Amino acid sequence: MTERCDLLITNIHAATMDPAIRGGYGAVEDAAVAVTGGKIVWLGSRKELPDCSADEVVDGEGQWLTPGLIDCHTHLVYGGHRASEFARRLGGESYEEVARSGGGILSTVRATRAASAEQLYAAAVPRLQALMSEGVTTVEIKSGYGLELDTELKQLRTARRLAQHYPVEIVTSCLAAHALPPEYDGRADEYIDLVCERILPAAAGEQLADAVDMFCESIAFSVKQCQRVIDCAKKLGLPVKVHAEQMAHTGATAMAVKAGALSVDHIEYITDMDVAALAESGTVAVLLPGAFYTLRETRTPPVEKLRASGVPMALASDLNPGSCPLASLRLMMNMGCNFFGLTPAEALAGVTRAAARALGLSCSRGSLRVGLRADMVLWPMDTPDRLAYEVGALNPARVFFAGKTVGGSDVAAG
Ligand code: NIG
Ligand code: FE
Repeated sequence: MTERCDLLITNIHAATMDPAIRGGYGAVEDAAVAVTGGKIVWLGSRKELPDCSADEVVDGEGQWLTPGLIDCHTHLVYGGHRASEFARRLGGESYEEVARSGGGILSTVRATRAASAEQLYAAAVPRLQALMSEGVTTVEIKSGYGLELDTELKQLRTARRLAQHYPVEIVTSCLAAHALPPEYDGRADEYIDLVCERILPAAAGEQLADAVDMFCESIAFSVKQCQRVIDCAKKLGLPVKVHAEQMAHTGATAMAVKAGALSVDHIEYITDMDVAALAESGTVAVLLPGAFYTLRETRTPPVEKLRASGVPMALASDLNPGSCPLASLRLMMNMGCNFFGLTPAEALAGVTRAAARALGLSCSRGSLRVGLRADMVLWPMDTPDRLAYEVGALNPARVFFAGKTVGGSDVAAG
């Protein structure tokens, strides 16, 4: 480290989430962190901090510093809402029944197509702000409520625009293969032609998509159709992610692993063979307990087997108007423990280190390590176990985005 740095944070405990440091949190107690040029340039025990001066010094007052949280799976740009569908489901109809009768995703497609770019943006802002208020510094946002060229691009442009106005990194995925639009009823293969020949090339051409996602399920697209989307993404040089085995086993995970996908998401119905394949791959298992909870599912992903096989498990909100209208990643950490049996340390790894990997971004974020971007959150707590344990009243004291303070109660207090 040079003698001068931009920011020095002392008197903290760091939950680095660095696997090279023992213990689930990679904890360094009584630590200090130095930041220059938006990156961590030194981190270690305060006693070993070299002599240095800093433009800004923050006394962490014995609080805990974690990496900025990462929500690696959201659909937060959409028009309208589905409160009436919520009521129907409470009355006994299933998610599939609502979807098959023209509701579900297609109801949001109608509202998203009808919304202006301005309306879409205005509706997305409070959802993004809710996540950011919890210390989220990177958010993945999918399209998938357009299902035709212009609206898919409108959604992706809206996601990019959010990043221009808020101190958060937005990563986009084109999910044009989310559902069959009504105008292609009975012609799913032809719709996949449109996705591969027009929508994905246009999204890639305008650099609006960082990845390509797809919904592989009986109410959406088959493995064969998804394989065509994967082949197209590969030709365009884009990584893939797959909504896989949410309602039944389809073979989506095997396909995704073979394709070197960044992640398989949902995976309530994966088999032992899928777990073994994931363990051999670099593909991350993304768990979405909010959708499991909202849809009142009973089948949980095989967390014990994933853990035993060493498969990295990320946790995300899946924030969307149908299966998870819950804009809280902290709530997902709690649900990941209560419903799926994660430990609190696994829950934090799921929204930091593993989430970064699910986005192909582990070289730049997801843990506190020298060389990584200084996306960090200071929490007024005496143990990081509290992050998954409680929701609502334990909020960031300070949020740093690339080394700059962008939020938290310390800032609000002035
Ligand atoms: O991840 N599974 C498909 N897509 C979303 C739900 C979208 C919706 O219901 O609008 C999900 O759960
Ligand atoms: Fe989803």
